[in-house]
Amino acid sequence: MTLSQNEQKKILAVKAANFVEPGMLLGLGTGSTVDILISTLGEKFGDLKTLEIVPTSLDSADKASKLGVKILEPKSDLSPDLLIDGADEVAPDLSMIKGGGGALLWEKIVAHNSKRRIYMADSTKLVRELGHFLLPVEVVSFGHEWTSMALKKIFSAVTIRKTAEGEIFKTNSENLIYDCQIVDDIQIDVLDADLCRIPGVVTSGLFYGFVDILLTVKSENVIEIYEPRDVFW
Ligand code: A5P
Repeated sequence: MTLSQNEQKKILAVKAANFVEPGMLLGLGTGSTVDILISTLGEKFGDLKTLEIVPTSLDSADKASKLGVKILEPKSDLSPDLLIDGADEVAPDLSMIKGGGGALLWEKIVAHNSKRRIYMADSTKLVRELGHFLLPVEVVSFGHEWTSMALKKIFSAVTIRKTAEGEIFKTNSENLIYDCQIVDDIQIDVLDADLCRIPGVVTSGLFYGFVDILLTVKSENVIEIYEPRDVFW
């Protein structure tokens, strides 16, 4: 029997919740797997008032605060003990694409400032090379059409993200997102550096060097991966 994607997300969330202890300051990711984590933490602790979080999106902040979790603003004297987040795509070298939910910037900031980072990726997210999932690139609104012209020189296709209602999508920092098709044989660090040089680009959904533990699923079991590797299985 193979587990459905949702069943996998549930067992990943339960496993990730085991890393959370009362009194911790938690960096809370964004997305459907994190949503399951939030309710799992609710079941595990009952009273979530002992937990404090720095959220990576207004959406996660809202869901967690409904369970009584104390929401903290990022401050210089605060460093989350643990960040737990999802991913859209993970390669064997543990580089990732994130930002399918549009929270890439806050996710990257919280990850960068957390002591330890756990990512949950069901088996559908595991790829040989990044790029099946379109890479979200967050850009400032001013001059974004010029910025998109620069993006078109790097990517084979570039599309501004819209909401289901057809409005231009705005991130929690009021920026825009272009979803970009990565061309073959790209070097992730080179691509990231090229993107950072474009005025108007805030960040991209390329995350590398962030994973301390990747939780994924193989044959109905949660597997913990700590090191980059050549292939997953
Ligand atoms: C949010 O912007 C993303 O980076 C999420 O972390 C990612 O999309 C997680 O996906 P799931 O909804 O499948 O957990």
